[in-house]
Amino acid sequence: DKAPSLALRGTTLRFAGNPFDMPPEEALKADTNGLVVIENGRITAVGSYDALSPGLAPSLPVIDHHGHLIGPGFIDAHVHYPQLGVIASYGEQLLSWLDRYVFPEERRFADSAYATAIASSFLDSLLDHGTTTAAVYCTVHPESVDAFFAESGKRNTRMIAGKVLMDRNAPDYLRDTAQQGFDQSRRLIDHWHGTGRQLYAVTPRFAPTSTEEQLVLAGALLDTSPDLFMQTHLLETVQEEEWVRTIFPHRSGYLDVYDHAGLVRPRSIFGHAVHMHERDFSCCADKGCTLAHCPTSNAFLGSGAFRLFDALRSDRRVHVALGTDIGGGNSLSMLRVMNDAYCAAQSHQTSLHPIQAYWLATAGAADALGLENRIGRLEIGREADLCVLDPYATPLLKQRADRAETVSDLLFALSMLGDDRSIAATYVMGRRHVRTAV
Ligand code: GUN
Ligand code: ZN
Repeated sequence: DKAPSLALRGTTLRFAGNPFDMPPEEALKADTNGLVVIENGRITAVGSYDALSPGLAPSLPVIDHHGHLIGPGFIDAHVHYPQLGVIASYGEQLLSWLDRYVFPEERRFADSAYATAIASSFLDSLLDHGTTTAAVYCTVHPESVDAFFAESGKRNTRMIAGKVLMDRNAPDYLRDTAQQGFDQSRRLIDHWHGTGRQLYAVTPRFAPTSTEEQLVLAGALLDTSPDLFMQTHLLETVQEEEWVRTIFPHRSGYLDVYDHAGLVRPRSIFGHAVHMHERDFSCCADKGCTLAHCPTSNAFLGSGAFRLFDALRSDRRVHVALGTDIGGGNSLSMLRVMNDAYCAAQSHQTSLHPIQAYWLATAGAADALGLENRIGRLEIGREADLCVLDPYATPLLKQRADRAETVSDLLFALSMLGDDRSIAATYVMGRRHVRTAV
């Protein structure tokens, strides 16, 4: 059926520039009596209600979001849908947490029916949290990818996902071979990449679980289509870095393992990057890849605190987006991730401005992923994936929001105190998502 046409009235949030390059308050333009016009699922006008409303067709529905903030849907640049069932698992750090909780759960995704059930509830929960695009790890089973993209296709969401590649140092029930991983990925790319709104990411889990042969074949896959994505993990913990050093002794460092295989390039997303060296930041800046900052997960697993302002140094700026990293992260809320990004920055004696955090969760992420012409902004021609925020959603938020004198401070209050209760509505290509019943 056809994508809808409608208009939304409320406080519109638009970026006039990058808040890391100019005073943040000047980078975000808020119009408290704004209007977003959507035709056939795309944004066709944004401006003041008074200027635009006389020109609207009388039959066009106008949804009243008065007092709410209308902005682009959130983008979650690093998340594992199969780990939804082991969210909030007690008592381990990264490597033992993978062994104890993650791998046994991922085993279950050989079953298409189970994969479909989790993919469905994951996607509904994402939308409940205002997230409309995510870069998603499936499992080593091709069935887990088919299930995910089929569910995403049903909802017409723009998702990036891929089959995990893992040919060593994992339980045998989760291992492929370099050739199998290549062939299965090839078929999935042919079937799903560019089908509707779906996009494929070649997904070697991380250097310890792939042979060099598998990583080189992953690079070969990327050479076959220019707009494929790549996602993996990088320098999340000290122990992991040490492990990579011992199994790739002939490489100069962890990032060099990926670089040597041709995996460091635009549209490559490296999760975590907590323990980066200066040479790693320079390499990423040169190659144009993206780092997914996952502060909630880094706090939950005790991995460390990403050096955001170092990554963004203007003389060798690296693209950065934000990720929940479910189940390493214990929340699907990008507001919560903005909160934890603020706390991580504080731990390095730097302050992440709320408008900067909001940028990283929306327009900045779209730019980093090469999707800036499709999503991430309230601008003409973009797909109408929107998140409407309610700064008065809980008693605590309300009392705090009542004291806010600027939209910037409202965003700060939302990011410190908000969660899915503050998501007033989510729209996917102009269609309003119906919140999941418990
Ligand atoms: N490193 C390798 N696999 C994983 C994973 O599933 N989650 C996290 N947080 N780190 C990883
Ligand atoms: Zn991860």
